[in-house]
Amino acid sequence: MSALLYYSKQDPADLWATELRAALPADIEVRLHPDIGDPAAIEYVLCWKPEPGMLASFPNLKLILSMAAGFDHVLQDPERPAHVPIVRIIDETLSTMMAEFAAYAVLGFHRFMPEFHKDQRDGVWQRRWPRFTPDTHVGILGIGAIGAEVARTLGGLGFQVHGWSRGEKRLDGITCHFGASGLDDMLPQCHQIVCVLPLTAETEGILNKATFDKLPEGAYVTNIGRGGHLVDADLLAALESGRVAGAFLDVFNEEPLPADHPYWTHPKVLMTPHIAGEIVPRSCARSIAANIERYRNGEPVHGIADLERGY
Ligand code: NDP
Ligand code: OXD
Repeated sequence: MSALLYYSKQDPADLWATELRAALPADIEVRLHPDIGDPAAIEYVLCWKPEPGMLASFPNLKLILSMAAGFDHVLQDPERPAHVPIVRIIDETLSTMMAEFAAYAVLGFHRFMPEFHKDQRDGVWQRRWPRFTPDTHVGILGIGAIGAEVARTLGGLGFQVHGWSRGEKRLDGITCHFGASGLDDMLPQCHQIVCVLPLTAETEGILNKATFDKLPEGAYVTNIGRGGHLVDADLLAALESGRVAGAFLDVFNEEPLPADHPYWTHPKVLMTPHIAGEIVPRSCARSIAANIERYRNGEPVHGIADLERGY
């Protein structure tokens, strides 16, 4: 008997169970936490923020399947069995949703939507003129599976798109930059930036005062990577000074965001509760099943976490 255990406190378990049962071979039983049954049968755990110690209690665990593109949440478990590979989600639907969200945020700032919504509330009829779109530069921090799709989508809308990565990359129609000096070259050109990086030791706190100071006055910042990328005090100061004109935040240092956090009522901050990209069961159950099949056939599994690199 082989079993996959599903663990998440925030996703629709019933829907996942249906899709996983449809996608997985019949000899893999799908179990929903806390109905673990015999721990020795659990070979795969599909999880979001696994409770510390849980993964270590399965003696025959073969793959830790992150219910996310990122796997930073799995590393939070200090007892995680280090010999078991972690697999992250690479999924077209997820990339598309992230690109849709980034387009919404960037277009909203570009076309003054927060200001127009405020005018509506205030009963003010007032026109504003956006910068010519082909002269508007948007920098994407992180141009991997998701960031590249974000870049393509924004390019398709007519923006001048820049992308930043760790190693040198080429993407059609995108001005690519890499490494620390690449970021320094890119930032002063960008009227807007979108962070879609993984959270690693190198990227933690990258949205900080030094970064904001390199942007043109009045730039906009969208963060759909992780809350840990953003130094909140530096953003609040940059919003106050006008260096940053507005921010769209989907991810936060503490989630849910504490009730007394200034972002809740900040006039220049738009926020959503970590929903920029959803792990859609219908789509992702299939990619997870395909990966398990690869694993069973001894073929390379897609999206194995590189712990040395951190993503
Ligand atoms: P990938 O691993 O495919 O891509 C990561 C990108 O970041 C690559 O371009 C990589 O560079 C770049 N990068 C990593 N470290 C550095 C660094 N030190 N300096 C410069 N660039 C760096 O990840 P995905 O695109 O699949 O996912 C990205 C992240 O998006 C996730 O880890 C997660 O944090 C976030 N996310 C958020 C969601 C939400 O709902 N808000 C939903 C899904 C994902 P290189 O190309 O050189 O390797
Ligand atoms: C992810 C997320 O990393 O949902 O996929 O945040």
